[in-house]
Amino acid sequence: MTLRLGVNIDHVATIRNARGGVHPDPVTAARIAAAAGADGITAHLREDRRHITDQDIALLMDALTIPLNLEMAATAEMLEIALRHRPHAACIVPEKREERTTEGGLDAAGQLETLGPIVDALSKEGIRVSLFIEPDPRQIEAAMRLGAPVVEFHTGRYAHLDSADRAAELRRIADAAALAAKNGIEPHAGHGLTFDNVTPIAAIPQIVELNIGHFLIGEAIFIGLEGSVTRMRELMDHAR
Ligand code: PXP
Repeated sequence: MTLRLGVNIDHVATIRNARGGVHPDPVTAARIAAAAGADGITAHLREDRRHITDQDIALLMDALTIPLNLEMAATAEMLEIALRHRPHAACIVPEKREERTTEGGLDAAGQLETLGPIVDALSKEGIRVSLFIEPDPRQIEAAMRLGAPVVEFHTGRYAHLDSADRAAELRRIADAAALAAKNGIEPHAGHGLTFDNVTPIAAIPQIVELNIGHFLIGEAIFIGLEGSVTRMRELMDHAR
């Protein structure tokens, strides 16, 4: 099975917003990523709109010929926006205004009552729901109870640990991917992935999709976006 690459373009918008105006344009970045081998585009409409804006989502929905995965907090406002645009997929993430990025997985097990109606409403509109969780059996069980077809495992801990601890975290992710797949849930993974650390995650056979942003956009400064996406694609394909 080939491994899908979702390119997260949030930080194209971060650079644009540093000066206002329209440059660099996230839609242009999405087109370049698609041409270089991205299977999907991911964008996180944060509650504080620090990077991607409402207009970006509308423009991406109009322009994209590959699926859009909308990352969103579990709020009434974000649910309304997702239902209006009907992206291919919606990934529910925990969100804290003070954090620099999504720092941990969603506590799906502790929020069944809040998440249930949101997962149901999105699913009813044909939007593929994913829950961004830690690689933890309790959270996978919660995803099963909620009827979410996809989970995305947070690889931030894996990415930031060094070797011995990283090997243990890799095993945790591999076990979680096997458990999810065995129970009919499609496992994805993402956060903090780079050229140097992607291979062991990409080699986990049950994982179907990786979502990668910050590193690819940063690396594009040196080798271009086409170059960074192409290289990531090669590493992922080679790992299979
Ligand atoms: N997946 C999810 C659910 C995320 O929230 C993020 C960060 O926005 C990513 C993947 C991509 O992480 P990174 O930007 O570190 O590659």
